[in-house]
Order: sequence, then C-alpha cells, then structure tokens
Amino acid sequence: MDLKQYVAIVEDYPKPGIKFKDITPLMNNGEAYKYATDQIVAYAKDKKIDLIVGPEARGFIIGCPVAYSLGVGFAPVRKEGKLPRETIKVSYGLEYGSDVLTIHKDAIKPGQRVLITDDLLATGGTIEATIKLVEQLGGVVAGIAFLVELTYLEGRSKLKGYDILTLMEY
Ligand code: PRP
Repeated sequence: MDLKQYVAIVEDYPKPGIKFKDITPLMNNGEAYKYATDQIVAYAKDKKIDLIVGPEARGFIIGCPVAYSLGVGFAPVRKEGKLPRETIKVSYGLEYGSDVLTIHKDAIKPGQRVLITDDLLATGGTIEATIKLVEQLGGVVAGIAFLVELTYLEGRSKLKGYDILTLMEY
C-alpha cells in the first residue's frame, strides 16, 4: 500500500515556508491505519519487545495499537507537569528555546526492551530526549519506529547506533 496518499501536505503550516505532513487522513482510514500498524508490528516481532514508549501526542496514536497487537504495555512520555506521580525529566532543544519531557519513574523496569514510536522524525530532538529517559530508567532501546522521516533535516544523525524503521520518507 502506498501510505503517502494518506498524508496531507499542508503548505505554510504552522509557519510560512513549512510544508506540514498531516497524518490524520491515514488514521482516518481504517485500512491504512491497520496497514501502517502492522508494518511496525512486523518490524518489532523478533525484537523481544517488553514495552512501547511514545512521546505526546502523536507518539501515542502510533504506539498504542502496536502495544495492543504485541500484547505489551505502553508508557507515555509527556511534557512537564502532565504526569501525576514521580517522574524523571530531560530538557531538549527546540528551534527557539527548549522544552522538557518527562516519564513516570516506575514506567520501565531495568533491562526491559523498549520500542519507541512517533509519527515523525524531523530534527530528532524529541526522540533523542525520549531515548535518554528510557535509558536513565535502565531500559534498552531495541528499536524506534516512525511513520514519516524528513530526511533533509538529518534527525538520524542524533540517533546513531539505534535501529530505526520509517515507513515514508520526504
Ligand atoms: C512533533 C512530532 C514529533 C516531533 C518531531 O511533535 O509529532 O514528536 O514534533 O520533531 P523533532 O524530530 O524535530 O523533535 P510536537 O513537538 O509538535 O508535539 P505534539 O505531537 O504534542 O503536537
């Protein structure tokens, strides 16, 4: 299946010059959403995954059906102040300034094999921070799966040494 037909390219959003990759048409189509999920599940199958970890908000949309299909749990990574119990945090760079991502301290048991999921790999900052959170809790990042990779932003250079799957490239 050609998944790109389900990605809407939105010109000048959220800022002039940006061509936003909107994955909501893909999620809106049951066949395409299932196909994309199944591709990630197939990638994860031989990795002995114990847990899926995804950053808000779109990492949840990709990760939760994969977790359900594999029969493993899902741990959310959220912006600061959103998780109610004890967390660890990592700050990461944005185009202007920085932001903080957090995860519950008891979300990962040391040695657990983790698959990280998100919709999009752009500069790689979000997933670099997510990796730090997983590893600080003793998790092993066994793979990272994205729907879309913006190759021209070279986010992969921040993720050297990790096993990465992307279903579409722009
Ligand atoms: C977007 C996207 C990825 C991240 C990719 O999320 O869903 O998580 O940016 O960019 P990067 O590779 O340059 O870090 P956003 O930060 O907009 O959060 P949201 O999903 O909560 O809107």
